[in-house]
Parts: sequence; structure tokens; C-alpha cells
Amino acid sequence: MVEVVLVESPREAGQLVARSIIDLVAAKPDAVLGFATGTTPLVIYNELAAAVKRGECDLSRVRGFALDEYVGLSEAHPESYHSVIERDVIGPLGLDPNLVHVPNGALDSIQHAGQDFEDAIIAAGGIDLQILGIGTVGHLGFNEPGSSLSSLTRVKTLTHQTRQDNARFFGTIDEVPMHSITQGLGTILRSEHAVMLAFGESKAKAVQRAVEGGVSASLPASILQLHRHATVLVDAEAASRLENLTYYQRAWEQKMVWQRL
Ligand code: GLP
Repeated sequence: MVEVVLVESPREAGQLVARSIIDLVAAKPDAVLGFATGTTPLVIYNELAAAVKRGECDLSRVRGFALDEYVGLSEAHPESYHSVIERDVIGPLGLDPNLVHVPNGALDSIQHAGQDFEDAIIAAGGIDLQILGIGTVGHLGFNEPGSSLSSLTRVKTLTHQTRQDNARFFGTIDEVPMHSITQGLGTILRSEHAVMLAFGESKAKAVQRAVEGGVSASLPASILQLHRHATVLVDAEAASRLENLTYYQRAWEQKMVWQRL
């Protein structure tokens, strides 16, 4: 079962995941993290940045892999995921930029960029903890509905809905690239621990289908049901359509101390 954790606020979710990452890095200073972009995971990055500032942890040896990138957008563009990861993650968390990889969306090498990225993840020994958000269409990374359940990093065409959702970062929908390069659903399934966060009513339907619906390429986040260790943190709004919420709450409250997130 996907572990569902109902939190009182996005901040609480950020604190729980940050704590889990701090513990992971204390045990393995060069742990491998998977980073999602978007607004949702910022609560984790903010908590980690504060912990680093207080001297509670040192993340300088942590290795990282971003989930995805736009194709054909210059790395220097402020909304490229190279820029976003640098701005939201590498800088605030004090990571070594040489240890953080973002898929290469440059057109001249795009044909082998997916394989290169997979090779780099394997060379790093795999991802220990993969941070995920969820799109309103139910995507993970940029794995749009219809994505193969065993897909690896590759180019995907974005849906109109995703381009519309992400237009807020660009100004108009026409400026949002048509294509992305994204870790596949199979790549995400290989991570040791997948942690998805979702906040707000706009995510409620996708969360319900991901956690309680059938496993289907039509709702890519439903692959979390196939993951051996998946945790989904939701606020009350994002959890509002879950049918078994009471049970998830009871399971969380009854969890034994040694069973961490
Ligand atoms: C983008 C990213 C996803 C992210 C999604 C949701 O499409 N590629 O990784 O999960 O947006 O973003 P937000 O967290 O801002 O709702």
C-alpha cells in the first residue's frame, strides 16, 4: 500500500520529509536524492536550507538528479529546470553543483540524452530518495498520461493541460516548450524511496486516482502502487476525495517508532 500521511499544513510535510533526508544523509553523507521542481517541493527545500543554515546538517557531499527538463530551452533561461534547480535547490541547500545532474534538453544531443542520464543514475548507485510532485493530469515528472509504466528517461510531448499549468512561469502558453526530457516511470520505480507531496483541491482528484484507482498509464502517478516504498503526504484539501482516509490516519498514528517515514 502507498503510505498516505495527512498533514496539517504544507509546512508540516516539508518538515517531515526534511527530517527523513537529514537522517538519511547522517547515515550516508553522499546519499543520492531525486529532485522535483514545481511549487510543491519548495516546503522541503526551505526546511533543509534552514537546517543547513543552523548548522544541523551538511549536504555538500549529497548527489542529486533532477526529474526533468524542457527540451530546446536554453539552460540559462530563468525557467529552465537547470536554472530552477540551481536557484531553489543547489544554492539554498549548499550542494556541490558538480554533483547535481539535470537531464540535458539541448537539441543537438537529445537523441542520447535519456540514456546518458540513466547511465549517470546507475553509476551513482541509484536514487535513495526521490522527491515528487503531481500534475493536475496525474503526471510524475513530465510522464504524461499514456506513459509506459516501465519507461526510462526519454523525450515526452507535453499535454495542453500541462503547458497551460506551467504557463504561469513563462507568461503565455505559447512560450512553454512542446517537449520535455523526463525520468521515466520505470526510473522512478527503481528509487529506494519515493516521496510524493500534494497540496490543494486542484490535486485531489489526481491523488485519489493515484492512490486508490487502478494502476494505469492513464494516471501515471498510480505507479506508486507498484513501488516497494512509497509515501504520499497530503493536506486536507488534496486528501478530500480519498475514500480510505480514516484508515490511512489510523495506520500513521499506530506506526511504530522504528518505522520511519
Ligand atoms: C511540473 C513538473 C512536475 C511537478 C508538476 C506540479 O509539471 N514537471 O515535476 O510535479 O509541475 O507542479 P506544482 O508542484 O507546482 O503543482
